[in-house]
Amino acid sequence: MKVLITGSNGLLGQKLVDYCLAKDCAFVPTSKGENRNSICPQEIYREMDITNQAEVLRVISEEMPTHVIHTAAMTNVDQCELNPAECELINVTATRYLVRACNHVGAHFQLLSTDFVFDGEKGNYSEEDEMNPLSVYAKSKVDGEAIVEQESTTATSIVRTIIVYGNAENLSKSNIIAWAKSALEKGDPLTIVDDQFRAPTWAEDLAAGCMGVFEHNQTGIFHVSGPETMSIFELVVRIGKHFKLNTNQVSKITSSTLNQAASRPPKTGFNLNKAYSKINYKPHTLEETLAVLYPN
Ligand SMILES: NC(=O)c1ccc[n+]([C@@H]2O[C@H](COP(=O)([O-])OP(=O)(O)OC[C@H]3O[C@@H](n4cnc5c(N)ncnc54)[C@H](OP(=O)(O)O)[C@@H]3O)[C@@H](O)[C@H]2O)c1
Repeated sequence: MKVLITGSNGLLGQKLVDYCLAKDCAFVPTSKGENRNSICPQEIYREMDITNQAEVLRVISEEMPTHVIHTAAMTNVDQCELNPAECELINVTATRYLVRACNHVGAHFQLLSTDFVFDGEKGNYSEEDEMNPLSVYAKSKVDGEAIVEQESTTATSIVRTIIVYGNAENLSKSNIIAWAKSALEKGDPLTIVDDQFRAPTWAEDLAAGCMGVFEHNQTGIFHVSGPETMSIFELVVRIGKHFKLNTNQVSKITSSTLNQAASRPPKTGFNLNKAYSKINYKPHTLEETLAVLYPN
């Protein structure tokens, strides 16, 4: 197995690099611009802008991976809403370039997708549940999934996940755990939504899930998230309690008061039974991961 990773500078990309190094699995880390991950061996890093079709075909043809994990994306949901053409290019058109390159070399193509493909009315979503995207970002992932299903001539998989968190280097954006911990430590008053329910996912569990699909010779859609669904308010309070920080300053608000550009599904969360049974997925609870991420 030789795994090519897109977006190796991103949060999941960095955890996939760690996973491949730990398991001694051959891999090719790629991202836009320079390698910003000090753990990632410079000698195997390839610069690859996924919106450059010729570059995508050249790098994949030269490296001849057996598997490609496509993590790179425009991931800021509100920015996607405000810049739909850029979102379409990065999340949809570039996915097509990668699918075509994988068709060319016969590699298994895996797309990272999102709980936002659902409208959030039902919650606890299974892989077969009907999609109903509420935002430009969500629609771009639905369209990416359709390209995988309609245009691939190789083995494929789609891994959908939910709010990913973890520690990594030089990320373009913060993650909710790091943000909440630091805000609670400062003791500032915080207003947190109590009407959006998610299953926060430790990036290391997600990396193991993505690779688990390959290791268990699986194809198709997999839901891979944390094992517990909670409101964002509950998430922040649990982080505070874990670190014995004062949470009296945290108050509840509703999403409608936030004026965010993109609509969010109220209640997601996944049924993980397929991942448990087919890829031996073993996710960690929030408190288990906090203890690992921030040891005393
Ligand atoms: N994070 C979440 O909460 C979440 C939830 C559901 C689904 N997902 C999906 O899971 C995947 C991984 O998420 P993540 O949190 O690891 O995202 P991330 O940290 O934002 O990483 C995405 C990476 O893609 C890179 N990228 C952007 N445009 C590119 C281009 N044109 N060519 C090459 N690379 C490019 C970014 O580069 P720069 O660093 O240089 O900007 C970044 O390193 C994404 O597909 C996302 O949609 C994430």
